[in-house]
Amino acid sequence: MKAIELTAPDLGAFRRTELDEPRPGRGEVLVRLRAAALNYVDVAIATGAFPGAAFPLIPVADGAGEIAALGEGVDGLAVGDRVIPHFMPDWQGGAIAPRHVAAMRGITRPGSLAEYVAVPAASLVALPAHLDFVQGATLPIAATTAWNAVRSAALRPGSVVVLLGTGGVSLFALQFAKASGATVILASSSDEKLERARRLGADHLVNYRATPAWDEEALKLTGGRGADLVVETVGGATFARALNAAAMGGTVFTVGFVGGTAASLDLLTIIVKALRIVGNNTGSVADLAEATRAIAAHRIVPAIDRVFGLDEVAAAYAELAAGGRHFGKLAIAH
Ligand SMILES: NC(=O)c1ccc[n+]([C@@H]2O[C@H](COP(=O)([O-])OP(=O)(O)OC[C@H]3O[C@@H](n4cnc5c(N)ncnc54)[C@H](OP(=O)(O)O)[C@@H]3O)[C@@H](O)[C@H]2O)c1
Repeated sequence: MKAIELTAPDLGAFRRTELDEPRPGRGEVLVRLRAAALNYVDVAIATGAFPGAAFPLIPVADGAGEIAALGEGVDGLAVGDRVIPHFMPDWQGGAIAPRHVAAMRGITRPGSLAEYVAVPAASLVALPAHLDFVQGATLPIAATTAWNAVRSAALRPGSVVVLLGTGGVSLFALQFAKASGATVILASSSDEKLERARRLGADHLVNYRATPAWDEEALKLTGGRGADLVVETVGGATFARALNAAAMGGTVFTVGFVGGTAASLDLLTIIVKALRIVGNNTGSVADLAEATRAIAAHRIVPAIDRVFGLDEVAAAYAELAAGGRHFGKLAIAH
């Protein structure tokens, strides 16, 4: 089968290759991949910033395709079913445990830049009927994470959510938060992106270049109360402001490291406001399944900035690595 390998932790080290077609083992399914979508973690692998990868590897965690063959002992699935293989195939549900994080597609297991992949049947989620393969490929990491963020704060109509930037996680969180009836305050570096976010439902827009104290702006917009949920998709650069923007008893859902992993903060803010700081490592297959059900129920369509061809993989990675140019997801069609 045709595949693209990443041969070293280097954003230019992609090569086209021919590999043996995998055979599905017992309990596994062979998926003919049709699309892939990038996440920041793929760039982190390709720059050596994320540990655990052994090169060469078939990159890109997220993808979607259709079932080409069933291994022994697989029930309830059929050849031709449109499916999304989850990023962490061994984490089917429940709380995260060390045994769940060893297998990660695109890192320690084959990713989505190959014609075929064999994965556990239990790691597959049905592609919502209103989405195509490219749209489906954007769901495993970003939509699962955004769904877990929104669920962590038990949002209700009238809840306030603060989102940082217009990357994949933030825009799924925007769509889920609006579906819950929440009010969304979104900060971005660009007025043009803010306008696009408004069209997706964002209620209040803050340009964090023009207004670096976006946390104070969020407090002003909420009459001093702050947000029930801040989805912290940036990291060290913004964490202290995220704490400041949260309401008493609010949740700061901590996932991002595009803005570094080290933060300096005043613990009194957490203590006095009795904040919940919730860490998250993507999510389980059950979390992805729930996120896709929400996407189907609300007919949510992922925001995709650009779809690259298989001959443009390095350009797609470069676009994500550049940071701040894209709006939502970058995808690769097979
Ligand atoms: N732990 C988990 O479960 C988990 C899961 C998924 C992703 N992540 C992490 O979460 C982060 C976001 O992921 P993603 O896929 O959404 O990334 P992405 O598509 O690359 O989006 C990043 C966005 O962050 C915004 N940004 C950058 N610096 C900012 C700042 N100082 N203040 C406010 N916004 C800023 C930019 O938006 P504008 O261009 O609009 O300014 C940028 O486009 C990454 O670090 C990723 O690794 C973690």
